[in-house]
Amino acid sequence: LCFSCNNPEHAVRGLFPGDSHEYEVFRFALAQNQDIPKLVPQVDMVDTSSSFAMTYAFCSQFSKGVYAIMGLYDRRTVNMLMSFCGSLHVCFVTPSFPVQTNNQFVLQLRPQLQEPLMALLEHFYWTRFVYMYSSDSGLAVLQRILDTAAERSWQVTSVNLDSLTEPAFIKLLADLDYKKDFQIIIDCELKRLNYILNLVKQNLKNYHYILANLGFLDLNVTEFQKLGPNVTGFQLVNRSDPAVQKINQNWLDFDNKDLKYTGALTYDGVSVMATAFQNLRRQRIDISRRGNAGECLANPPAPWGQGIDIQRALQQVRLEGLTGHVQFDERGHRTNYTLTVMELSHIGPRKIGFWNEKRGYVNTAIYRPMQEEFYNVQNKTYIVTTILEAPYMMLKKNHEQFLGNDKYEGYCAELAAEIAKHVGFTYRLELVGDGKYGARDPETKMWNGMVGELVYGKADMAVAPLTITLVREQVIDFTKPFMSLGISIMIKKPTKSKPGVFSFLDPLAYEIWMCIVFAYIGVSVVLFLVSRFSPYEWNGEESDDEDETETPEYTNDFGIFNSLWFSLGAFMQQGCDISPRSLSGRIVGGVWWFFTLIIISSYTANLAAFLTVERMVSPIESAEDLAKQTEIAYGTLDGGSTKEFFRRSKIAVFEKMWSYMRSADPSVFVKSTSEGVIRVRKSKGKYAYLLESSMNEYIEQRKPCDTMKVGGNLDSKGYGVATPKGSPLRIPVNLAVLKLNEQAVLDKLKNKWWYDKGECGHKDSGRKDKTSALSLSNVAGVFYILIGGLGLAMLVALVEFCYKSRIESRRMKVRTEKCLGGIAVAGGGAVAGGLGVGPSGLGGENGRVVAHDFPKAGAQGLPCMSKAAGLGLSSTGM
Ligand SMILES: *[C@@H]1O[C@H](CO)[C@@H](O)[C@H](O)[C@H]1NC(C)=O
Ligand SMILES: *[C@@H]1O[C@H](CO)[C@@H](O)[C@H](O)[C@H]1NC(C)=O
Ligand SMILES: *[C@@H]1O[C@H](CO)[C@@H](O)[C@H](O)[C@H]1NC(C)=O
Repeated sequence: LCFSCNNPEHAVRGLFPGDSHEYEVFRFALAQNQDIPKLVPQVDMVDTSSSFAMTYAFCSQFSKGVYAIMGLYDRRTVNMLMSFCGSLHVCFVTPSFPVQTNNQFVLQLRPQLQEPLMALLEHFYWTRFVYMYSSDSGLAVLQRILDTAAERSWQVTSVNLDSLTEPAFIKLLADLDYKKDFQIIIDCELKRLNYILNLVKQNLKNYHYILANLGFLDLNVTEFQKLGPNVTGFQLVNRSDPAVQKINQNWLDFDNKDLKYTGALTYDGVSVMATAFQNLRRQRIDISRRGNAGECLANPPAPWGQGIDIQRALQQVRLEGLTGHVQFDERGHRTNYTLTVMELSHIGPRKIGFWNEKRGYVNTAIYRPMQEEFYNVQNKTYIVTTILEAPYMMLKKNHEQFLGNDKYEGYCAELAAEIAKHVGFTYRLELVGDGKYGARDPETKMWNGMVGELVYGKADMAVAPLTITLVREQVIDFTKPFMSLGISIMIKKPTKSKPGVFSFLDPLAYEIWMCIVFAYIGVSVVLFLVSRFSPYEWNGEESDDEDETETPEYTNDFGIFNSLWFSLGAFMQQGCDISPRSLSGRIVGGVWWFFTLIIISSYTANLAAFLTVERMVSPIESAEDLAKQTEIAYGTLDGGSTKEFFRRSKIAVFEKMWSYMRSADPSVFVKSTSEGVIRVRKSKGKYAYLLESSMNEYIEQRKPCDTMKVGGNLDSKGYGVATPKGSPLRIPVNLAVLKLNEQAVLDKLKNKWWYDKGECGHKDSGRKDKTSALSLSNVAGVFYILIGGLGLAMLVALVEFCYKSRIESRRMKVRTEKCLGGIAVAGGGAVAGGLGVGPSGLGGENGRVVAHDFPKAGAQGLPCMSKAAGLGLSSTGM
């Protein structure tokens, strides 16, 4: 290829074999590359394996005045080309295989494969393998491999493919098979690689091939990817890059064959030259060559003076091409490039990592494609070990009528079926032989239970409530947990407290009621005393009573009974006809009012809640509650993980609980979960049992429905499906569990086996009728008090009446005969007076009712009628 800026007749030149893909792309790239003006491709079609033809073509181009040549070489012409370029200072840009050379005038677009290949061998830990190469490109790699092999004592068999005929190759394959050489590197050009892959496709099983070629996606692999092959290779062109896709599309319009990686390299070569050319022009470096430029076979050779400028310009080019980042080092080799590492899976090629100089090989595959191995064993029936444990795995009531998996029901039975459906395998449920979950015997170091069956290969999977623990995870693989749980507290359900008749007293504690009573009495007494001492409480005015003719009497409203009445009125928020007039009395009244305001408000606020909710008073709400008290014993299963949890715990509360449990007498540990549950049920609430929350929730839903879970979980762990280490089932089963979780199938299963099949009704069905209307029983006490009070009042009235009548009658007999009426008359008068004066007293001026002090009035010896009135007033006043 020759290009020039200021000489219009200068043409673009290339050295290609006529039928090559690179040649087609070269023409296409020039057509695409509008950056180079007036480019006319001038291509010498030569046989690149013929030294003579190449020499001739090169020299004729050189003599026509060439700036740089683009073309191909092969192993027979490469040395001759390089010596020409080196001596004449003519740049040769090539997509051909890379050669180890320090000749800066040869710019090699194809990255070298030694380093990526070595990194991959290291990644796969290959130490014994076969290296098949073609001597074009392979010799440099072979050198590198043999050096490393000597260093690390690898066993490498090398096979030169150039001299191999097909029958010899087939014999070689049989030989490799016999020697169990299953790891093979094939290093050759695409065409031959396709041919070889077709030959080996029968032998893909057990083998692992690494293809030392940069065009993994250029291979025809569609026909044998179904065979579950194990093939790794490199890909240079990132086909998912939109820029690449666009050019590829243009290319397909131009020539409807796929653009191979060699084509991409050619395309990038043209871009490199175009960029270099532009840079030169921008720097205004004159590189024109006029006239006949030189004689290529001159002796001594006459290098072209400006060749070094061109070389520098080309080497400094950096661009993002079809083959990624294009950049050259000072020897003209590609540097700073990235290779994608790919693998053939049964669904097609996929990326598993990448290689670059800076980071070496980086594996990005999330998992090895187990589906392929799985594909081969899909027809196998897997043995799923499990354990009888309600509600996870139970025998059906009529299990004799069923065969195989249908005998079982439960959470895990359905979980196993769901997993099998998602992954697509058949399985047989088998109960674990020794009925254990799995622990390691400290002496024999053997695993028992389900874990043992997995470890010793008796089962392929365990679907059971198997806790994921460190020691188990070391010997078997767990999926992500299908159920999370933790240690929780089981107590006997407290019996519902029926609301008492006097439940209206509940809002305030018993002590408060007592204090209120004392406060009431105390305040009344203080009020009484204060009123006695305070002169402002005494009023000297005469009594309204006309009959009273004696000296003006000082009266005081606040006798002890009135004081009590005043306090009561205030407390009941009713007020009273009398009120203190002295400052001291008002202070007493004020603070009492304030006190009652707060007390009554508090009472009202609490009343609604207390009357309408039938509370289940649980003595224990959390582990802290348990630890604080000694009345309720608590314990765990003897020799289980729960006990171990408390033994190991460093949390203060649990340490305290452990020290109690360890020393409790009688022992708080139980032999089995059912024994623990029975103990909870039988101990009348004096025993709490610590067990896994899932079991706790299940038993809560079992008859006789008298246990309950309280508080949160003390720790958290999970149940997982287990598979033996390295099982092909592991990844698909894990994905299935995650999928079931995301689709809420697991929640549905849990609801089904815990609550739908529960025997105690739904969790919060009881809570609804708790907020029903007040029943009579809630407030009956108030009615009782009302009736009692009325009865008492009548009784007191009768007693008062009799008492007064007795005294009056006695006095009448003793002192005077004035009063004519007998007991009956006096009584009638008293009643009449009481009725008559009462209302007027209530309506009296400013509520200042003249209340006669009762004993005093009695001592005064008032006449019958006034006496009766006094009695009446007193009783209304009080
Ligand atoms: C594929 O190759 C890897 C690495 O050499 C090997 O571990 C694995 O067993 C092979 N797989 C098959 C199915 O041959
Ligand atoms: C390597 O290539 C990246 C672009 O892909 C570029 O940013 C970086 O500077 C290059 N590194 C060196 C050392 O040239
Ligand atoms: C599975 O086994 C049955 C016979 O047991 C056979 O007919 C079927 O082809 C097998 N399927 C696969 C995928 O191997």
